[in-house]
Amino acid sequence: MRIGICTGGGDCPGLNAAIRAVVKHARGTYGASVVGIEDSFNGLMFRPLRSRELDLGDVTDLLTRGGTILGTTNKGDPFAFVEAGKPSPQDLSRALVDGYRELGLDGLIVVGGDGTQLIASRLLNVGIGIVGIPKTIDNDLGGTDQTIGFDTAVQIATEAVSRLQSTAESHDRIMVLEVMGRDAGHIALHAGLAGGANVVLIPEIPYDWDPILAKIAARKALGRHFSLVVVAEGAHEKGGRPNYATVSGGAKRLGGSGAYVAEELSARTGVEARVTVLGHVQRGGSPSAYDRILATAFGVHAVDLVVARNFGRVVVLRGQAVVDVPYSEVTGGHRPLDLTASPLVIAAEAIGMSLGREPATKKVELPKPSRRGP
Ligand code: F6P
Repeated sequence: MRIGICTGGGDCPGLNAAIRAVVKHARGTYGASVVGIEDSFNGLMFRPLRSRELDLGDVTDLLTRGGTILGTTNKGDPFAFVEAGKPSPQDLSRALVDGYRELGLDGLIVVGGDGTQLIASRLLNVGIGIVGIPKTIDNDLGGTDQTIGFDTAVQIATEAVSRLQSTAESHDRIMVLEVMGRDAGHIALHAGLAGGANVVLIPEIPYDWDPILAKIAARKALGRHFSLVVVAEGAHEKGGRPNYATVSGGAKRLGGSGAYVAEELSARTGVEARVTVLGHVQRGGSPSAYDRILATAFGVHAVDLVVARNFGRVVVLRGQAVVDVPYSEVTGGHRPLDLTASPLVIAAEAIGMSLGREPATKKVELPKPSRRGP
């Protein structure tokens, strides 16, 4: 049996750990060979094909390494490939299927986020034996409780919040940290809670200024002259729209929400504010222990599925269990923070963190204890 593997979309910590698990389990347990496809699906679309056999020696020391040894791209849709100089997108799916056959592959493990998995689900219909592994620092993929890369990004963002605290306190400043996550606030809320932020603004809750200003004023009244604000890149004011940074080649790129919040807060409070944009630091470097473990468990399960020729499945985390679900459960919907059921949203507001809205749970007056006599 020959198993192909590729990594697609934006990179994240843990991709190499998944590749390592696939190679070790496929070769060690089943004696199967593994072929790494380079730069997402691109390695199969063009000639010469870009692929290489992956042996045990190729995955030595890979567990802890960031990025992906196979390379990746978020600009390679085989059904609508945009080529420089060509007026309209080209359908290169036929060339991809031919490439898959030329390599003699029995199945293809696709490690990717929503865009990549959507393409993968379409490749099932053109005869490719696909099994998916979910990854993205944004943690916004439907069907799974967690994706590879999220835990590491949260750790990095948490470290940033904690480090901003001392400098904010020394200068009596408002420190704003902009984090990634596209239109989901998972990274922002997790890092805000873990780092002790006072205000966290997420795309799921378009914010009002009043509760944010009230929070900063309340801190001041307690002698806390600094505040820590985490802003998700997709967060925006009520009635407003997300901020986009310089758009190159017509593409839209989220960015600028942190700078906007810092400027407004400074103007509205009279307190100096500074902004830090964490950017791709969140995606770089060695994966956390949790991501290494998750990627390993996902990789092993994916190999078992391919060997059983159980295609069209995505490996997911449900509670503590690694299971697999049909593609439709993963590609069927984006998974933002669940505002009604998320224990994190409830906990954040219960401890007085402002999410830019009037908290769902109001302060309650406890009944005075009745005197017991005599
Ligand atoms: O989806 C992962 C992610 O890191 C988002 O959080 C972010 O908005 C985007 O990718 C950045 O993409 P790029 O690497 O193309 O700048």
